[in-house]
Amino acid sequence: AENLLTIFISAMEDIFNSLPQKSSCWLKGKGIMYKYQGFWNIKDFLEGAILAQQIFKAQPSDVLVSSCPKTGTTWLKALVFAIVTRDKFDESTSPLLTSVPHECIPFLEKDLEQIQDNHKNSGIPLIATHLAYTSLPKSLIAANCKIVYIYRNVKDVIVSHYHFRRQIQKLSMEDAPFEEFFYDFCQGISCCGPYWDHILGYWKASQERPERILFLKYEDMKRDARNDVKMLAEFIGYPFTIEEEKAGTIENIIKLCSFENLSNLEVNKSGKHRPEEPISIENRIYFRKAKDGDWENYFTEEMKEKVDKLTHEQLRGTGLVL
Ligand code: A3P
Repeated sequence: AENLLTIFISAMEDIFNSLPQKSSCWLKGKGIMYKYQGFWNIKDFLEGAILAQQIFKAQPSDVLVSSCPKTGTTWLKALVFAIVTRDKFDESTSPLLTSVPHECIPFLEKDLEQIQDNHKNSGIPLIATHLAYTSLPKSLIAANCKIVYIYRNVKDVIVSHYHFRRQIQKLSMEDAPFEEFFYDFCQGISCCGPYWDHILGYWKASQERPERILFLKYEDMKRDARNDVKMLAEFIGYPFTIEEEKAGTIENIIKLCSFENLSNLEVNKSGKHRPEEPISIENRIYFRKAKDGDWENYFTEEMKEKVDKLTHEQLRGTGLVL
């Protein structure tokens, strides 16, 4: 077994040495990202992704929660978890009250063992990922798993991602110029970028298999959460009964998962995500403003024009508006 492990590790090293690399802006020589199958990612997530591509066996009941970072992942995870576990927990016992939503759903790129254990023990059938559609383990597609995908206005994603990266690295805005982050992002160089390609991959798949892939937009969900939560529950096979609707179950889930509620919980104010890891992330960094249009406070007119032009070119013919 040790031999196999050595072979595996050296095969991984060969893969990484052959990939295009780029050091993250502001971090000269550190925070290396690799371009694998058309998308940039950090080594830690890519190792897990490659392993999952090799060995992960999906079950048809698995539901995949997918997104590019900073598009509303935390919110979508909370909602899906609350919908699926509503018979197990109520508003006073939900794990969402004591754990950041990221710890309620195992992450394909990091938590393969936990996912396999869930399969064995008929646990909660939820899996999260940031992988591009074309990089998903084939088994997820072959098993016809349901996939829910969220995307968000690109300009707000850029600002949200900028602050996230900056805060993880504990850098001030002066030490982490927005411009540098902005121009890398536009070139597709951001974690799981190019953002436009990430969206396009899932969009195309949702056109081909609309009964398997639900495409959600952060801004729409904010405007009419009730409609989207109802649709989400139906889509993943956990529809609300008439009695539940009358009893206000949908409203309770929306309230539980709201930014106001989650961001004020002690665990999300002072807790840490993956505290045992070298870069553990303070939960509060996942909850910033949750406002639409914050980009206006950061973009110059030239930046706005650049992104609008790029978006127009990239998403031409899809009808998608970012
Ligand atoms: P801002 O940085 O614009 O505030 P992700 O969850 O994909 O990392 O995205 C993070 C963004 O979602 C952040 O946006 C964060 O504030 C916002 N967010 C986190 N929890 C939310 C919730 N429950 N409802 C709405 N938005 C939320």
